[in-house]
Amino acid sequence: MARILCIETTCDETAAAVVGDGPTVLGEVVASQDALHQRFGGVVPEIASRAHLERILPVIDEALRRAQLTLDQIDAVAVANTPGLAGSLLVGLVAAKTLCAAAGKPLIAINHLQAHIYACRIAAGREVFPCVGLIVSGGHTSLFRCSSPLEFEYLGGTIDDAAGEAFDKVAQMLGLPFPGGPSIQKAAASGNPRAFAFPRALIDEPRLDFSFSGLKTAVRYQLVGPGKPDFSSLNLPPQFVADIAASFQEAVVDCLVAKAMQALRASGLSTLCVGGGVAANARFRERLQFEAERRGISLVIAPLKLCTDNAVMGAIALERLRAGLIETLDLDAFPGLIRPKHATAKKA
Ligand code: KG4
Ligand code: ZN
Repeated sequence: MARILCIETTCDETAAAVVGDGPTVLGEVVASQDALHQRFGGVVPEIASRAHLERILPVIDEALRRAQLTLDQIDAVAVANTPGLAGSLLVGLVAAKTLCAAAGKPLIAINHLQAHIYACRIAAGREVFPCVGLIVSGGHTSLFRCSSPLEFEYLGGTIDDAAGEAFDKVAQMLGLPFPGGPSIQKAAASGNPRAFAFPRALIDEPRLDFSFSGLKTAVRYQLVGPGKPDFSSLNLPPQFVADIAASFQEAVVDCLVAKAMQALRASGLSTLCVGGGVAANARFRERLQFEAERRGISLVIAPLKLCTDNAVMGAIALERLRAGLIETLDLDAFPGLIRPKHATAKKA
């Protein structure tokens, strides 16, 4: 049985997991940095990379300890090297390369977006490819045609803010705690989703793209009007906050569900896999399930634990190992969105 140590440091979670064929999870750890970024209302890249640096070795040690394995008993080390925050990516990459050099293990590259979709494959326990993959996180809102675990074709995505980023920024305006997604979901539970008619950008257009910055601005104008905002002194009534949260959440969910269905129609595929932090949203999951049932779509949404960043979804490295895709130690980090040359691997 192949056993891989997977490392994930693309954003603000320091995570490591040991996975085996199946895929099975032998041991895993996620060290969240939410408390460090809370007072800034968003992830501060420099704080994230410094925190990764402090945590990466204890996190790896703990994952191995939970798997009851030593580094010698591992067959390969895998690391997410794209996309993500440059400094954060580098910490995981250097740790992985150093372990490979010291212990003589093969290095495997993980594409973080492919890994988010692979979380659906792990959860389903069966083949899910080919499928349309929708990744909705703090940094990405993208649709892919996923022909196989390793073959992704970009169909469309956000042209400005990611959906999770919009959740985080609107939460900040409303005085709700970071991360904004869970806070907005909680506030929205007692709100009216039709209280405010917020825009659904691009929803009727054939292109498979999203735009959330206009929605964010519409919320802002509802709160303070144009001009210099001072959200800290707003003192908003709880029911107003709940109504804004519910109306905002409904607008985001409408756009995400509509474009996912449009991508399925355009690609002729009948399986939809959804991953990323925003896929933890209860209203989004409910709406996806409703639409999928109605249209006979096979829907796989990553379970809550595998939605937000984690190293278990790095089990996609097992597919690369099987395909003989081993990297050289000059593998680099690529902060930007998916490009074909983000790995140095040459098929053996
Ligand atoms: O995938 P993830 O952990 O990190 C990135 O790769 O970005 O996603 C984090 C994002 C944050 O913006 C957070 O507010 C959002 O996912 N999120 C949610 C929920 N839980 C997390 N958004 C909406 N509803 C939720 N329940
Ligand atoms: Zn992510």
